[in-house]
Amino acid sequence: MNKTLETGVRNARNVDRYVFGDGAIRELSAFLKGHRQTVEDRVIFLVDEFFQTNPTTLGKLPIGLADTVRYVSAAEEPTTDGIDDVVELLLTDGPRPCALVGIGGGITLDTTKAVSNLIANDGMAADYQGWDLVPGPGIYKIGIPTLSGTGAEATRTCVMTNKSTGLKLGMNSDYTVFDQLILDPNLTITVPSEQYFVSGMDAWIHCVEALNGGYRNPIGDAFSNQAISLCCDVFSKGEMMSDENRAKLMVASYLGGCAIATSYVGVVHPFSAGLSVVLGLHHCVANCITMMAMAPFYPQAFDDFVKFVEHNQIDLPRRVCVGLTEEGFEALYQATIIHEKPLTNALGGNFRKILTRDRVREVFEAM
Ligand SMILES: [Fe+2]
Repeated sequence: MNKTLETGVRNARNVDRYVFGDGAIRELSAFLKGHRQTVEDRVIFLVDEFFQTNPTTLGKLPIGLADTVRYVSAAEEPTTDGIDDVVELLLTDGPRPCALVGIGGGITLDTTKAVSNLIANDGMAADYQGWDLVPGPGIYKIGIPTLSGTGAEATRTCVMTNKSTGLKLGMNSDYTVFDQLILDPNLTITVPSEQYFVSGMDAWIHCVEALNGGYRNPIGDAFSNQAISLCCDVFSKGEMMSDENRAKLMVASYLGGCAIATSYVGVVHPFSAGLSVVLGLHHCVANCITMMAMAPFYPQAFDDFVKFVEHNQIDLPRRVCVGLTEEGFEALYQATIIHEKPLTNALGGNFRKILTRDRVREVFEAM
C-alpha cells in the first residue's frame, strides 16, 4: 500500500436533505409543493424507461397539468450530445421548470443532474465537463434511486462520454449535487438479479479502491468501511435481494458515493472506463469484468469478489477482449492510462512504469 499522501478532506458537499424508508416516495408530493407557486409551474420528471411499462412500483406520481414526463433509456450511458438533445427538447416543449425529479438508476440520476445544470446555466454539456466549471446553481432537483450501487445519488458529478473527444468525464461541481433525495428501498424490488449484483458491486469497488489507495483520510475511510461491511452482509449472507438487504444496499450505495467524494477510486475504474469507451460496456458490468483480472492489484478483494459471485450464482461475461485488433488494444490502453488521479492513488506517481502497454494488454486479456 502507498503511504498516506493526504490526510485532509476537501471542502466536501453532501446532499442537502434526504428521507429514507419503505414508502418514502409518497413524500414527493409534499416536497414539490414547496416549489410550485402556481399550477402553471412546471416540473420535469425524468424516469427510467423501465417504469413506462412497469408503473406500479412507483405508485401514483404527483404529476401536474403543466408537468412533463420524459422516459430515459438505459440502453446507452449518457453522452454530451445526448444530454444537449434532451435539454433542447425539454425547453422547446414548455417553459423553464421550477423543479426536476430524476427516478431511476445512475444513468437517469446523472441525466437529471446534467439537465438541471444546463437549463439553469445555458451552454452545452461539453462546456462543463471537468472540475468546478458550472457557473451557478442548477434547477432544484430531487433524486429518487431505483437501483443501488453507483452512488450517483450522493456525488457531485454526472458522468458523460464526449463521443467526439472520447472523454468520459462528468460535471464535477457543488451545483451538481441533488437538493433532495428520496431513498425508498421498496423501489428496488423489481431490479433483475444480475443488474442488482453488478450495480451493488460498484459501491463495494469504490470503497475497496479508496481504502487501498494513497490519498486516504479518516472520513473517507469511515464511509468506505461502513459501506463495505453492509455490502458484505448483502452479498455473502442469505438472499441478496431480501427486504433487509435491499435496504442495506441502498444505504451502502449512498455511503459509497460519500466515500468517493472525499477520496479517490483506484485501478478498477480506469480499466472499466476503457471497456466502456472502447467496447461500449456499461459501467457496473465493466467493473465486474475488470475485477476478474484484479488479483495482482487487489488480492484480498479479488478473493472476496469471487466468493460474492459464487454465493449469488452470477454469470459474468468473460474473455471480452479476445480477438481485438492492435488498434483496439491501443485504444484500451489510452482510455485507461488517461485516468491519472485514480491510478496515482492506487499505484503512486510512477504508475506509467507499472502499467506499461504490455502490462495493460495482459490485464485486458485476463478478463
Ligand atoms: Fe463506479
